[in-house]
Amino acid sequence: MQTLMTATTDYTELDGYFAAADAKCVLLVCGGSIRKLRLNTYFETLEQRCGIRVVRFSDFNPNPDFSSAVKGLATYRANGCDMLAAVGGGSAIDVAKCIKLCINARDPEQALHQPPVPNTVPFLAIPTTAGSGSEATHFAVVYENGVKQSAEDDSLLPDAVLFDPDALKTLPPYQKKSTMLDAVCHAVESYWSLHSDADSMKDAAAALRLIAANKDDYLAGTDTGCRNMLKAAHFAGKAINVTKTTAGHAMCYQLTMHYGISHGHAAALCVKALLPFMTAHPDLCIDTRGAAHLHQVYTEIAEAMGCTTAAELPTFFAAFVDSLLPGIETPAAAAELDMLTCSVNADRLGNHPVQLTADTIRQLYAQILEKEQMP
Ligand SMILES: [Fe+2]
Repeated sequence: MQTLMTATTDYTELDGYFAAADAKCVLLVCGGSIRKLRLNTYFETLEQRCGIRVVRFSDFNPNPDFSSAVKGLATYRANGCDMLAAVGGGSAIDVAKCIKLCINARDPEQALHQPPVPNTVPFLAIPTTAGSGSEATHFAVVYENGVKQSAEDDSLLPDAVLFDPDALKTLPPYQKKSTMLDAVCHAVESYWSLHSDADSMKDAAAALRLIAANKDDYLAGTDTGCRNMLKAAHFAGKAINVTKTTAGHAMCYQLTMHYGISHGHAAALCVKALLPFMTAHPDLCIDTRGAAHLHQVYTEIAEAMGCTTAAELPTFFAAFVDSLLPGIETPAAAAELDMLTCSVNADRLGNHPVQLTADTIRQLYAQILEKEQMP
């Protein structure tokens, strides 16, 4: 069970958490952007407040390579650390998870390919975007020699999370919008996933309701809007912690690689393209709970987002995305469509409730890239 805390102006809740952790030295995994945050001063003064030394580790990139975690482990050991904290978006939290994975590994450099050896090192996560939900999941996403890899173990779930609205206030507008869209896609994809259950659907619905109710306040930078958007992203993260993501995420990675748009932006364009096809093809439903279950899911997603019926959901969702961010205006050549289609991860498609052939995926990409419309 995670401890969830909401930041107060003087971070007394963090003092309580660190005092209870009984640690000597914390490895703080963070990007350079922490220097703009109030939290930076908190960690600068942690030793005098709680007697815990702070060693910072920032030697990683936005789509982190596993070698960064191996370097982080060396810093952890060299300084006698006995606790982990991550302050950042998905990347900082993923690196901290991989360091945790390495701590007991027989050969840390091979930790991604060995059975995990769990440990109880205290692990605090403080998300600085409301999107990835990484603080709510037990898996880490990293790259190894350019190949995307995923590590998975219950011990990778942070044992404590701090929601600090102040951390969202300096985010540039594009990042604010695209990370929110990432959370929307996590909730929607988890809702319709073949692996959904009553709890994950409840969390996905809670995320969508919070997003709909707080979108404007969050974009305006109010304290309440930012706090509730952090909670929404966390609920969506809890939902994908059970179900994982589906075709929207399977299709979005190559759009980020080839068109330079952010992860959440790319995922939203994919879900926007998927929805009309999925709702028009109940005949292709492969969920054993049946097409009626899937229709009910569309209805519940619609209701949670503030739209009246499942039939209106594709148009409503498209308008929601379009009101925030533009589409991709570079039409793709045929060879690019082939490349994008081949790149889709078959494992992630395995969670998707509607059958998608290579031809369908190619047409969906063509639609996303505004080359042609789906028939
Ligand atoms: Fe995502």
